[in-house]
Amino acid sequence: MPARPTFSVGLIGTGFMGKAHSNAWRQAPRFFDLAAEIRMTAICGRDRAVTSRAAKKLGWESSTSDWRAVVADPGIDIVDICTPNNLHAEIAIAAARAGKAVLCEKPLARDAREAERMVEAVRRARVVNMVCHNYRRVPAIALAKQMIQAGEVGDQIYHFHARYAQDWIGNEKFPLVWRLQSRFAGSGALGDIGAHVIDLARYLVGEIDEVSATSETFVKSRPLEAKKSVRGRVDVDDATAVIGKFRNGALLNFEVTRFAHGRKNQLVFEINGSSGSVAFDLEEMNYLRFFRTADAIGRGGFRDILVTEPSHPYVARWWPPGHLIGYEHTFVHTIADFVNAVAAERTVRPNFADGLRNQRVMDAVMRSTRRRSCIKF
Ligand SMILES: NC(=O)c1ccc[n+]([C@@H]2O[C@H](COP(=O)([O-])OP(=O)(O)OC[C@H]3O[C@@H](n4cnc5c(N)ncnc54)[C@H](O)[C@@H]3O)[C@@H](O)[C@H]2O)c1
Repeated sequence: MPARPTFSVGLIGTGFMGKAHSNAWRQAPRFFDLAAEIRMTAICGRDRAVTSRAAKKLGWESSTSDWRAVVADPGIDIVDICTPNNLHAEIAIAAARAGKAVLCEKPLARDAREAERMVEAVRRARVVNMVCHNYRRVPAIALAKQMIQAGEVGDQIYHFHARYAQDWIGNEKFPLVWRLQSRFAGSGALGDIGAHVIDLARYLVGEIDEVSATSETFVKSRPLEAKKSVRGRVDVDDATAVIGKFRNGALLNFEVTRFAHGRKNQLVFEINGSSGSVAFDLEEMNYLRFFRTADAIGRGGFRDILVTEPSHPYVARWWPPGHLIGYEHTFVHTIADFVNAVAAERTVRPNFADGLRNQRVMDAVMRSTRRRSCIKF
């Protein structure tokens, strides 16, 4: 029997996602049967001292503040990118050229041109690549996918309706962080949380080929992080609303906002098909709501499927039925699938090509907002 390979991982970024991914790299081999051993070799952040502390706390063997050293290290097999969006392309392209498998946080890039270069780089280098749209791997959402594919909501989908709402910049005194500047982020609520909605729409319903959108920047300037007395311009959307159409004729309708006071990380969607519906709410992420027209005669209504049975996607790896899982598990699932794909040298979705299609939808949304017209693409 061939020996199991060992993959050395280099993670770039020590912030919110650096922490979530570190946890996932640690947990994935403990709960999933991976086709490779994992070595958490190096973590990289902008600040050397912060990164050194992060390495110890998060379980990495070494730390650096030079991402190029990680990418150039011949001992590293996988580069995991958890930096602000403006660095995704440069790091991913360099990593692909160095022959590394690449996992990149969403949105893949700041715009489609950048994403195209990334797709070209991984294609030329023939390296396994993935975008971290972790919500695809919420068991309830993966179950919704299975049910839709099995025709349980009908042959035809009519509607995809979603809202992703947060409130963390609702206070106008909140500073001008990188997420509020297009040169770092590309777009605002759209790229940050709308990218997830678009990924779910594509995953569950199909390709989108027409959008009409409108957006607003409610607070147009904010205090600089380094100097609070000086204000800088916010040049990204605070909220965006989109209607559109899928290639298969279904209608798309979603809103993303970071100004919905009281909504911390509300992601809800509903899909209505010709013989049923599914609905999901991230705040109750262990449930999938399901309605079947066949049940409507007599005792109809939505039923709550508690997605904790061993037959449900990913769940058998965790706890007995009824023992709930959470946000962090979605990253463990993502990394487990990614590692197995790298070991088998096969495609895993969503890959960079998916990230590019997602980015094309976002670019069309921004064009529609500017031109105040419907964009077909
Ligand atoms: N999948 C999700 O649900 C999800 C959630 C949040 C963020 N994200 C994405 O993850 C990425 C990171 O977001 P975050 O919230 O972790 O950001 P963050 O601001 O918390 O962390 C960014 C990290 O990048 C590092 N960094 C910045 N410039 C660097 C450089 N030149 N060299 C090395 N390191 C550098 C910083 O040191 C910091 O550790 C973004 O692309 C974001 O869109 C995804």
